[in-house]
This record gives sequence, structure tokens and C-alpha cells, in this order.
Amino acid sequence: MDLTLSSKAPEAVATPLMAVLVAADRPLGQLARFDEKFGGALAAAAAVGDFRGRTGDRLAGHRRGTDGPQRVLYLGVGGSESLTPETVRCAAGDAVRFAERRRLPSLALSLDHPGPGIGARHVQAAAEGMVLAAWRFDELKSRAGPEDANGDGRSRSVHSAAIAGAPPNAWDEAVRFGRAFANGENLARTLQATPGNLATPSRLADEAVRIAEESGLTCEILGPAEMERQRMGALLSVARGSDEEPRLIVLEHQGGDAGAAPLVLVGKGLTFDAGGISIKPARGMEKMKYDMSGGAAVLGAMRAIGELDLPVNVRAVVPSSENLLNGSATKPGDVVRSRLGKTIEVINTDAEGRLILADALDYALSWEPAAIVDCATLTGACVVALGHHRAALLGNDEELLGELRDAGELAAEPCWPLPLDEEYRKQLRSEVADLKNVGGRPAGTITAACFLSEFVGHTPWAHLDIAGTAYGKTKKPYLRNGPAGRPCRLLLEWVRTRAGV
Ligand code: BES
Ligand code: ZN
Ligand code: ZN
Repeated sequence: MDLTLSSKAPEAVATPLMAVLVAADRPLGQLARFDEKFGGALAAAAAVGDFRGRTGDRLAGHRRGTDGPQRVLYLGVGGSESLTPETVRCAAGDAVRFAERRRLPSLALSLDHPGPGIGARHVQAAAEGMVLAAWRFDELKSRAGPEDANGDGRSRSVHSAAIAGAPPNAWDEAVRFGRAFANGENLARTLQATPGNLATPSRLADEAVRIAEESGLTCEILGPAEMERQRMGALLSVARGSDEEPRLIVLEHQGGDAGAAPLVLVGKGLTFDAGGISIKPARGMEKMKYDMSGGAAVLGAMRAIGELDLPVNVRAVVPSSENLLNGSATKPGDVVRSRLGKTIEVINTDAEGRLILADALDYALSWEPAAIVDCATLTGACVVALGHHRAALLGNDEELLGELRDAGELAAEPCWPLPLDEEYRKQLRSEVADLKNVGGRPAGTITAACFLSEFVGHTPWAHLDIAGTAYGKTKKPYLRNGPAGRPCRLLLEWVRTRAGV
């Protein structure tokens, strides 16, 4: 979506739709002149109590004549003093979906009415809400693309939007961030939505090369030969069961001082998880194309980091493989040697994410990072514990955990801490190797994180288990059923805070 700022007053913008945010505690009279152009619909609805600016209040109207907006959509956002960016994000998304249902190619949004309730964070959220809501994935439908499936030829996608009434220069930066964050998250969603036969590890790596070229990053791709040289036995043990070659994707953004310790983002890029020899049940297995969601979020974040040229050094590592089963597949009971040298008894081949991440985390340690954050659709237990609202957050550094919680709240991609006591580690003790890859049913998300912690040394590290939040059904207006792109914007808010901008 092409998103611009316009300094024109709402009534002067020629647009098929003007969406107007209305606060409950500000005088409606401020909108009187605008409302008159639409036959006084707002005043009439307010007079009988049908519209009071409460969150969820909506009123649509039309206008005779050719100048200015053809339609209006008033969206209540509640009290202006307690207005959250998420309320604005949802309202902006709502406006785009209203336009989409009517096959309108463009719209504009007015943030004037809540007055001092609107700050830079709200403007950023408005930009995000519109760009996120406009995302669609219909490239695999044969009457495809922007063309209408009903054949009336009108485009289904809302391709441009403007924020009206913008004070000169004041909102530019907020829109620039909102646009880049949402485009990054949309890229993550597209990668997630792409099925396993198309988004193989090597195609994911090709995509990373393209992202790097477009956003000024450097990219390095490791294939199986280099993995052998690096002795990445844990990652290779997962890839053995598939005909598709694994890849380790490395991206770098050099925005800070040369030599300054980088932030490292690591994402699980398992492009399809059948479980390996410990095969998963058939029901719902198609969802396991989403097992690369962590990697997708990291790639999306890197694109935005490059595009915004954030003043900080950031590196990304995405280990990518399939987890299938053939005659060479790793078997339960096999012992593999990780790059770090620790030996792992593979009790269950479906606990493959921690294996590929172990070598990726260890690889990243050689850069002596300031902090490492990994995100992964790692455990079904996380879905049981926290459902689809909050991701699980675990790690070895309280300050870093606090930063990530704050970033999650800012992005409305919240997470919640789980403990990582030494006691849980005992569940990973093996009779034959240094550790087992599963710790039994109790505390499955925690023991998975314990496993990862064996590979990060003393580097400040945090892990986000996104099994319940990366994809799913939704009612939020800026999301669609399926891929959510989470936690791309969480990662971006964190990196931005670390960059001090
Ligand atoms: N990719 C799955 C985790 C998952 C489950 C993601 C449900 C999204 C929704 C992971 O590789 C896995 O299979 N984990 C196992 C671990 C177990 C064998 C210890 C699990 O959670 O069942
Ligand atoms: Zn698995
Ligand atoms: Zn998996």
C-alpha cells in the first residue's frame, strides 16, 4: 500500500472514503462543518444517542457532489486521554477493510478530532493499521492477483491511503516508521503463507538475498558443505530426512559504530515440520508450513531495519530445513554432535526446532553479540500455557526480558515470562549423551528453552516461543486468518529502542 501524508483539511481531500476518528470526550461540534457536507448525519445520530464516539461506534454516510470525499466513515475511539495506539491501529485497519468490502482503491484517514490525544505513537499505529490491513495473499489463486474473483474487474486491494490534516513535518517520522514496520511484517506474512513446496529452505535463502539487495544489507548463505565444515551436526541431523538441502541464512546491517557488538536476531526457519520419524498426526499437519514463522519475522524485521537504516549493528541468523522422514532420517535414540561439541540424544525427532537453533545460536556467539533474541514456533505446550494472545518469553537476563516485554506492549504483540530455574534442566539429563532433546511432558516450553540456553553461554539471551501467536484465526481488523507476522514489530520496537531512536 502506498501511504502518504496530506496537509489538506478532511473536507478538501478528493477521496472515495474519508475515515474520521471520533473521540467520546471532545466536542462533536468540531466536526459540524465537515458533517454538513454529508447531510448532518453525525449530528442526527448523536442527537438520538446512536453515536457517541465510544469504541466500536460506527457511522457511514454519502455525499452528493463531486468535490471532497465521496463517503465518510466515523469511527468512535473512546476517551481521547486514554487513547491507546492499539485502538488507533484497529480503527485504521477497520477503515481499510470498509474500503476493501466496497472495492474502493484508496481512502484517507483523519486523526484531528481526538486533538491532543494524538501523539507520534498514534500516528505510527495509524500507518501500521492501514498497511497491515491492506495485506492479502492471493497470488496462488488463478483469477488472481488484484483481480476480483467475481469477475467484475474491480480491484480487491486497497492500494493507496493518505493521512489527512497532517501538521507540516510533524508526522513524517512516525509514518516512516509505521510504514516500514508494517511492510516488514507483511513480508513476514507472505513468507509464512507461502506453502512448503514453494517456500523451501533454498527459496527462503533466495528471498533473503533479494531482501538484502533491496534494503542495503549484506547476506551470506551457508549450504550443507559449509555446515559440515562448521560441524553443525544438530542442524544437519534434522535435514538428513529430506531431499531438500538446508540453508543457514545470515544477514547483517551495519548501522552503528564499526566494531560495536551487534544485536542478533535468530528465527526458526523450519519450512515444513512433519515431525520426522516421530511423525505428527495428519490432522492439522498442513499448518506446519508455518513452522518457519520465527525466521519469517526475523527476515521481515531485517528488511525494515535496513530500509530505516537504524543506527545500530544488527545480525540475523535463520537456520532453515525441512523435518521429513526418509531412509536416512535421524531416528529416536540417535546421538548427534552439535557445533559447540555437546552431544544430544534425539528422543523425539519432532523436537527439531531446538536442534537447528542450537547450532544457529552457537554460530552467532562467535560475533560476541550484545544480546541475542530468538523466536520460534517451538512447543505445542506454549499454546496450552498461553493460548493465542501472548508469546512465551524466557531468558537469562532480566533487563533484556524487561525490554522485550515493553517492546511487545508497544507493538501490541505481547509476551509473558515463564521461569527458567535450574531445576527444570534436570529433565534433559541423558544416560548416553550430554543432554536429551526432550524433557518429557511437564513444562514443555520451559525445558525447550533450557535446551537452547545450553548453547548461548553467558551472552544476554531471550527466547520467544511463538507457537500460539505466529498464526491463527483472528478478529482484529488489521489481521487476517492465517499468518500474523508476529513478532516482527516486537523485534523492531526492541531494536529501535536499543538504537535510541
Ligand atoms: N513445530 C512444533 C511446535 C508447534 C506445535 C508449533 C504446535 C505450532 C503449533 C515443534 O517442532 C514440535 O513438534 N514440538 C514438539 C516437542 C515435543 C516432541 C517435545 C511438541 O511441542 O509437541
Ligand atoms: Zn516438530
Ligand atoms: Zn517444529
